[in-house]
This record gives sequence, structure tokens and C-alpha cells, in this order.
Amino acid sequence: MRKIIVAGNWKMNLSIKEAKTLMLKLDSEIHSSTGLKKVLVFPPFPYLMSLSQMINRNDLFIGSQNIAAENNGAFTGEVSANMIKELGLKYTLVGHSERRSLYGESNEIVKRKIDQAIANGLVPIFCCGENLDERENGIHMDVIKNQLFDSLFHLNESEIQNIIIAYEPVWAIGTGKTASVEQAEDMHAHIRSLFASVYGEDRSNDLYILYGGSCNSSNSAELFASKNVDGGLIGGASLKADEFLSMIAGIDE
Ligand code: PGA
Repeated sequence: MRKIIVAGNWKMNLSIKEAKTLMLKLDSEIHSSTGLKKVLVFPPFPYLMSLSQMINRNDLFIGSQNIAAENNGAFTGEVSANMIKELGLKYTLVGHSERRSLYGESNEIVKRKIDQAIANGLVPIFCCGENLDERENGIHMDVIKNQLFDSLFHLNESEIQNIIIAYEPVWAIGTGKTASVEQAEDMHAHIRSLFASVYGEDRSNDLYILYGGSCNSSNSAELFASKNVDGGLIGGASLKADEFLSMIAGIDE
């Protein structure tokens, strides 16, 4: 039986002081419930080390927002999966739509990042999502299918074990336009059935699929209650402690 994972993507926000204040509050005030699987937080790279040392509970983890597609070497400005592992961290976002659209990450590059995460024992949160044109042209289901098959479904059964998928329609990210529960549910069911076609029904029943895109305390309960929505990847609303905490507190027992 799947529970709910709530993840916060801080993006390039907060001073170190603000980040520590937020982390302290999360560490002490997250409402643990039987319905909550875990809380993941993705702060900017320079804060990872000090924030990870502030965690005193076993349902809160931090991870990186990105990793390099290469293992090591002359790649100025990049951070490898191995470096994240060496900090004692386990999670990383891969293929966030801002990485894809602003930094030219193709499905091929995302695939190489997934491989780096797996090779280094990290759990990738694989982000996928269609843009507004693709949705309006009715090809959103195919876009997601291609993203999954091009970058993720080459993994074998043991490599795919712990993977988490985040469906984030690009038109909903940071726009205040959330996907309706029906739109999210339809896509999540689609993702689960594609996953089942490759890895089998049993494994697909264990797969966590998070929704992201203007998810906040006024819509999270309804989204998280949907059959195939197993939590959220939260951007803007994860920067406000009370807002983020109330989304977690709203999870059913
Ligand atoms: P948002 O961002 O919640 O601010 O829309 C979500 C994300 O980009 O992960």
C-alpha cells in the first residue's frame, strides 16, 4: 500500500540563514502520520552539507536538485552523483523541466544523469512533463511516454527498484495554474500503466508518482487523495514553512 511522499524543490532561493531557519522548523515540526512515507527537501548545492547535519528525524531527507551527466573530470561548474553520495545523501532530482528548457537537457542527457544516479546508488526523482503546446495539441500522453522510454525504461528491474517519478506539466510550474485532479490522475494512471507494461503489475503498484506544478495547501489534499497520485513535488509553496508543513499535516492517517 503506497503512502504519501512530500518533496520540496527550493530551486535557487533562500540565503543560508533563511535555509537553516526553514530546515530547523521542518525538522522539529513535521507532523508524522501513518499516511506519510517521507519528506524530501532539495536545497541549493552549497547548503547541502550543513543542512544535512541538522536533521534529527528518520522521515526527512535532503537531496540535490541536479547532478552531472558525467562521472568526474574537466566539467567546470558541475557536481557529480558521486559527490552527492559522498555527502551521505541519497536523493537527487533528475530532468526537472527548468533543466530541460533553460539548460538544454535532452532526453539523452537526462538518461545519462539517471545512469549516473543509479551507478552511485542514489535514488533519482525522475521529472517529466509536457508543455502547453503539447497539451493543447493533444500529444501530452505521447510526450510523457517518450520521456519515460528515452531516459528511464532502459533500466533493468533491480536498477528501477527505488526510482520515484514526478509528473510536472510545464504549464503548471510556477504559474499558479494547477492541473485538475482529473488531469493529474489521468496522466499518473498512464505513467503507471506504461511502467507496468515494462516492469510488471506488481512493481508498478509500488511505484511512487508525485505531482508537481503550483501544488499548495489549498489543492494538495485533493490531489494527494487521488488514486494514482502519491504525493507532490512542491516548488514555491515549499519555501514557506507553515504552508509546506500544513500540506504535510493534511495527509490522512
Ligand atoms: P511550483 O514548482 O510548485 O512552484 O509550481 C514545482 C517544481 O518546479 O518542482
